[in-house]
Amino acid sequence: MSKKAVLRIGDQEVELPVVIGSEDEPAVDIRSLRKETGYVTLDPGYVNTGSTRSAITFIDGENGILRYRGYPIEELAERSNFVETSYLLIHGELPTPEEYEQFRQRLRVHSMIHEDMKHFYDGFPSSSHPMAIISAMTLGLSTFYPEAIDPTLDEETDLTVCRLLSKVRTIAAFSFKKSVGQPFVYPDNSLTYCGNFLHMMFKVPAESYHVDPEVERALNLLLILHADHEQNCSTSTVRMVGSAQSNLFACIAAGICALWGTLHGGANQAVLQQLSAIQKNDNDVKKFVELAKEKESGVRLMGFGHRVYRNFDPRATIIKEACHRLLNHLGIEDNLLDIALELEEVAVSDPYFIDRKLYPNVDFYSGIMYRAIGIPTNMFTVMFALGRLPGWIAHWLEMQEDPDNRIHRPRQIYTGELSRPYPQ
Ligand code: ACO
Repeated sequence: MSKKAVLRIGDQEVELPVVIGSEDEPAVDIRSLRKETGYVTLDPGYVNTGSTRSAITFIDGENGILRYRGYPIEELAERSNFVETSYLLIHGELPTPEEYEQFRQRLRVHSMIHEDMKHFYDGFPSSSHPMAIISAMTLGLSTFYPEAIDPTLDEETDLTVCRLLSKVRTIAAFSFKKSVGQPFVYPDNSLTYCGNFLHMMFKVPAESYHVDPEVERALNLLLILHADHEQNCSTSTVRMVGSAQSNLFACIAAGICALWGTLHGGANQAVLQQLSAIQKNDNDVKKFVELAKEKESGVRLMGFGHRVYRNFDPRATIIKEACHRLLNHLGIEDNLLDIALELEEVAVSDPYFIDRKLYPNVDFYSGIMYRAIGIPTNMFTVMFALGRLPGWIAHWLEMQEDPDNRIHRPRQIYTGELSRPYPQ
């Protein structure tokens, strides 16, 4: 017999269905609550609110578990690559060798952006933050592919998905070139997805550039680790905007904007800035930790804490190891890594952080890896966006097919003035 939850409000009693997920996660289905009782629920930050059923990603925050479509993140990080993981997230299954080749080929042929789009870059100041550029350019794609404005799922959607995955990478690399005043480097489709990105980023016409396979491997890993994280802020934004039947380009542009915030994807940039500030303050890690514990200081340890992970972030564990491997391979000794290691050690043994279950998150070590690859700090969040693309797309597609999907329209508890007359 299916379980029911009983809610008593005064002398009113209402039975609400209990929903159990495939990993035994229980939820109370409150859809009928307002209709039956006149009450709504109040849950700022949606801490206890399940906004959807989803079959894409499973997280067990207590035990540090993350799986895409059932596959543990550790195995994907070790054995997959970003293109294959993207296919998995979007299509639900790992591709057969033929499907993989076909997918790769589709990404290859869509790697260039329309020549007219290149002129957009002329309008942006060279000091522009690349997140602003990639969100504007992603939305701009909808002007070149107006057929994608209709969100009805058909072969056109498949094309839009491939265009997005391939072109946002080119847009990101071009925004870097714009910021450093170098000419755009066109994609070279003989390269892999990540290799091609590195080529567009670091090749200059005057010199040859060879993709270092270890760097390519590191980039694949970073993008895989960022590829999805269920109903986080930017993914929920993609779903929110998508629930109004906005097109995929528009929804992804909105997701990029949400990701930009320092409490979300912007944290990887903030971590590096914080580590650099510690370096400038005589490497005084302890002073910073003390500051982060004082609410009035307004300082938080960036790259620490997570709404869902309350034990450890499995992505941080993988990145930390990969960070050492990459820096060893490149022969880089980065003082910021030493500071990060010490900061982690001091914080994880401090009662403030232990009591609040605050541990390094995915952003804590990723910036040091990006820096070693040669990616500047203001591009870190762009890298996150590139990685998160397949996740956003998978959620948008899942939502389009969900019979429960309705326009997202939360309620509120009004606390303002009562009705009053306009002054005569
Ligand atoms: N440094 C110091 N104190 C912290 C930190 C931190 N990084 N994170 C949380 N706390 C404290 C809060 O002050 C609060 O203390 P209190 O209970 O005494 O008031 C307590 O821990 C709970 O924090 P909340 O802000 O309520 O936790 P929430 O789940 O809302 O926020 C978040 C999670 C935004 C990630 C937060 O931990 C944070 O700001 N971290 C730093 C930014 C960061 O690294 N963001 C990246 C997250 S991962 C990602 O988006 C990819």
